[in-house]
Amino acid sequence: MNPIQRITATKQIIVCAGAGGVGKTTTAAAIALRAASEGKKVAVLTIDPARRLASSLGLKELDNVPTKVNRRKFTAAGVEAEGELHAMMLDTKTTFDEVVYRYAPSPQQADRIIANRFYRNISGTLSGTQEYMALEKLYELHVTGDYDLIVIDTPPTRNALDFLDAPRRLTGFLESRVLRWFLLPYMKAGSGFMRVANVAATTFLRVVKRIVGGAVLEDTAEFFVNLEGMYDGFKERARAVQALLQSDLTSFVVVTSPTEESVAEAVYFAQRLNEARLPFGAVVVNRVHPKYGDGIGARTRQISKLRAQEGDGALLADLLDNESAFMRVVRREERNLRALASKVPRHRWVRVPYLEQEAVDFRGLVAVSDQLFDTGGGPSRN
Ligand SMILES: Nc1ncnc2c1ncn2[C@@H]1O[C@H](COP(=O)(O)OP(=O)(O)OP(=O)(O)O)[C@@H](O)[C@H]1O
Ligand SMILES: [Mg+2]
Repeated sequence: MNPIQRITATKQIIVCAGAGGVGKTTTAAAIALRAASEGKKVAVLTIDPARRLASSLGLKELDNVPTKVNRRKFTAAGVEAEGELHAMMLDTKTTFDEVVYRYAPSPQQADRIIANRFYRNISGTLSGTQEYMALEKLYELHVTGDYDLIVIDTPPTRNALDFLDAPRRLTGFLESRVLRWFLLPYMKAGSGFMRVANVAATTFLRVVKRIVGGAVLEDTAEFFVNLEGMYDGFKERARAVQALLQSDLTSFVVVTSPTEESVAEAVYFAQRLNEARLPFGAVVVNRVHPKYGDGIGARTRQISKLRAQEGDGALLADLLDNESAFMRVVRREERNLRALASKVPRHRWVRVPYLEQEAVDFRGLVAVSDQLFDTGGGPSRN
């Protein structure tokens, strides 16, 4: 069994993480597709603002709830559909609203928060919100017990580590002592009155008020007032999610491309997972250039001979030149992958070659899943 097969067979939650653009969404979808094809009931939760995944699964839109992918998609692509594949795309703002309704002590208080202008401004954009809501959704899907396997994609952050820190950052912000301290006069007494006890805050507020306007401050203060009584809910949930991610139900798959920068980040990420006691399962080395034999020295001699010829010889020389350039890319990748091998043992890797076509349709995803679940035998590099 390769590590992806093993994880898919034994885990209930797979988190696909990695740097921007390396193939997280594709990997998550391809793993989910294969597991569903083999008989599991699978949900794939993607965070793909480009909506590439919706179109490759033949869905017009991915809603904030899982939608079942039609069996015909499987059969048309020549694969079995023993199980079920449900796909959803995270809608951060809607999930935040759901969270507010869940934790607010009363529906009226939730309504007040949702209507608040400060909330409406931050709920879709605040740093870390998307990641927090992704984990929130994951937890929600997990507790329904509806799925044998949940595969979760992670947001296109520049830095994969942001994902791990996000829940802490968001709860930190919502709880921010500094912020609440400064807003205290507003929170206590509304706009008309400022308590003298908090002189520094009052002075600060006066300055801020001049810059951003009183209405903004009031909205902000009102937001935090209404949030009172909800922090414990947030924190408790964040703890439960953390415990679930650390449990042996979960495995992290780190996706990387064979570039130096991406490999360095994958190695660092794997180490951070270890430190955070999060179960690291496998590295997917995606978009590896295939290797077709070697012998660059012999090739170079051949090229100069051909260059001396007229007609077809010169054309062949150009082609071989092209091939040498390709081989240089391959060699560079091999160097980067040796660096990876020194940190992550090869039995934890799965390679996916640079496919001729982007994995933008169902067949493309099937092609990627064939590679992810390959146990060898095909053309490979070592
Ligand atoms: N092995 C592959 N061969 C060819 N194309 C690939 C391969 N893997 C992924 N792609 C293509 O690369 C593009 C980026 O992949 P994908 O969207 O999965 O990356 P991502 O890590 O989710 O990106 P982001 O960080 O922006 O969310 C897609 O168009 C996808 O079809
Ligand atoms: Mg993506």
